[in-house]
Amino acid sequence: MVGFKQSESETTVIESKNREEGKLTYNNMVKQDFNILSQSYDKINLFMSLGTDKQFRYLTIKNLLASHEEDFARLNTWVDIGTGTGHLANELFLQKPDVYIVGMDITQGMLEFSKDRQAHLRGNMDLVLGDASQLPFRTAALDGGFSGFVGRHFTDYPKTLEEHHRIIRPYGRYSMLEMGRRATPLAPLIDVYVGQIMGLLGRLAAYIVTKGNAPFRLLEETYARFYSPTELTKIFDHAGFKTHYKTGLMGSIVIMLGLRRPE
Ligand SMILES: C[S@@+](CC[C@H](N)C(=O)[O-])C[C@H]1O[C@@H](n2cnc3c(N)ncnc32)[C@H](O)[C@@H]1O
Repeated sequence: MVGFKQSESETTVIESKNREEGKLTYNNMVKQDFNILSQSYDKINLFMSLGTDKQFRYLTIKNLLASHEEDFARLNTWVDIGTGTGHLANELFLQKPDVYIVGMDITQGMLEFSKDRQAHLRGNMDLVLGDASQLPFRTAALDGGFSGFVGRHFTDYPKTLEEHHRIIRPYGRYSMLEMGRRATPLAPLIDVYVGQIMGLLGRLAAYIVTKGNAPFRLLEETYARFYSPTELTKIFDHAGFKTHYKTGLMGSIVIMLGLRRPE
């Protein structure tokens, strides 16, 4: 049998195809799990975070908006990427009631529950089904964007972040709220807490509220492979943001904050 060596471009095409297929499979799993979990998502979150999830969201939006007054007034159009049941988008509305916000998610079941949020009921929030790696917006279309507990699910985080950067105008804002990974010297303890105890609480809550119907398989694996705040800062800077971050609850959460640099 005659062996052959793949050319570099062939290898690139095959790798890219495998990446696309991997993404599809992973995104299908995300949709499947979150469609089942959607009915109980808020209850599971409350239980798993021991009631602290509201505070994370409040702090994320507060940090995102904190600035000079004249700039605050110009931050009007936003996207919540992976909005889920819409609570982070709603928190923005509560802190700045004149905003217009698009809540976007890949899972229809989750979006259905966003319809109950005040921001949507008052006409300040539209809901769009879509993928965070290909946003349905023009370049520099919005004043800001953010995501909460979604970044771990992106199959190519740096590339996805570049896409988020694309749709934000110069000097616009961006934030990402996530579980802290290697965020403080207490990291080994936090890893046990977030990676294992929260995972266990989540599985238990999912089992009870869905009577055993919902898988709860994504938290531990996605947490374990996600980036530290130091690595994230480099990724954010590289995408074109001026970046800093804050940690909360002993480093179990990380709020990344980016200001889109002008070209
Ligand atoms: C853990 S939930 C977080 C929901 C919400 N942001 C919050 O703070 O509670 C993750 C959400 O991200 C969505 N998601 C995951 N991958 C996505 C992608 N590639 N594009 C858009 N949404 C995605 C899921 O459907 C799910 O609703």
